[in-house]
Amino acid sequence: MAVAKKIQAAMEKSSWIRKMFEEGITRKAKFGAENVFDFSLGNPNLEPPIKFKKTLMDLVNDPSPALHAYMPNAGLMATRKAVADYLNKHNRKVCGPEDIVMTVGAGGALNVVLKTLLNPGDEVIIPSPYFVEYNFYMDNHQGVPKIVKTNPDFSLDLPGIESAVTERTKAVLINSPNNPTGKVYGKEDLQVLGELLGVYSRKLGQAVYLISDEPYRKIVYDGLSVPSVFDAYPESFVVTSFSKDLSLPGERIGYAAVNPEMNDKGTAVAGMVLCNRVLGYVNAPAFMQRAVAHLMDESVDIALYQRKRDLLCNGLSECGYEFLKPGGAFYLFPKTPIEDDVAFVQALQEENILTVPGSGFVGPGHMRIAYCVDDRTIEKAMPGFERVMKKYR
Ligand SMILES: Cc1ncc(COP(=O)(O)O)c(C=O)c1O
Repeated sequence: MAVAKKIQAAMEKSSWIRKMFEEGITRKAKFGAENVFDFSLGNPNLEPPIKFKKTLMDLVNDPSPALHAYMPNAGLMATRKAVADYLNKHNRKVCGPEDIVMTVGAGGALNVVLKTLLNPGDEVIIPSPYFVEYNFYMDNHQGVPKIVKTNPDFSLDLPGIESAVTERTKAVLINSPNNPTGKVYGKEDLQVLGELLGVYSRKLGQAVYLISDEPYRKIVYDGLSVPSVFDAYPESFVVTSFSKDLSLPGERIGYAAVNPEMNDKGTAVAGMVLCNRVLGYVNAPAFMQRAVAHLMDESVDIALYQRKRDLLCNGLSECGYEFLKPGGAFYLFPKTPIEDDVAFVQALQEENILTVPGSGFVGPGHMRIAYCVDDRTIEKAMPGFERVMKKYR
């Protein structure tokens, strides 16, 4: 078939997450779904908040005309205003609806921002391990990822980022709380990163932007909060979605926000609006835009994810696994007891435990466990985790 060579290559490489997902389907058919412990996908298992369904019912019964019509590419004014009001509760800067573009999830928001910023060959610094879809998004817009490994505790390696800056650097792309490590970057690190990027922007005579991917912002534990990048650096974008905190990943609703203090922010937003259109998204789903405008302060019950984290961490720690306890998101990124993380993940597979090798996130020697699953799945998988660890220790 006449599939483009680049796409053929991408299909062959496929992602590890997808491979595990497919392996899960095969194993579930063979052994029964209740006997396969699938920790491979970041698909939230909690149902959306009750208010979500109620809001949908009200919207369905709204007799106003043209509720499903085309709209301005940036999205509905009332929704953008609701997003700006929400952001203003969490940042010192004052956003308005003109700073917000509603998008098709965080993935859509990332593509909109990258397409808006990148000239062919422009470089984007990404701390690793990271969500590897970024590679495809970068390729979509002819950007070049420059990977900088994080510190052993998964915090930002700020001198490493500084050394990676070149005259082609257009942006630094961070994700906090992080997929796959669960790390939440500290306020001071963001402040120092902002200062560093400010220095290089002045040196290069053009802005080096900070893009902060934050779909897990509300999923944090032990009283932690996620510091604002808007407060740390004016040339910054936030991209996010309602996929994880409202458990709506299939509804494809999110947004991109520009720092209200960004230089030439009007041009940036106009570029994003155009990109939202010409990427074929046109606008974010209308019905969902109407719904989320009423749900800005809502989230699933985060305490339930914290309980899953603790169940998993306590269990794995007793089996001898080594890891850093995550501060947010719903992923654990333990070390594999052998260097070959693929072999270890395959050994877990033999116990019908599906995880993803850290190599799939450019974090070799680790594996990712997505614990957005039933508590029972975590409990029932533990003997298998223990048997495999015993084999290799
Ligand atoms: C770090 C990160 N960014 C972006 C996305 C994409 O989110 P969305 O489903 O809202 O497009 C994900 C999804 O797993 C993610 O983990």
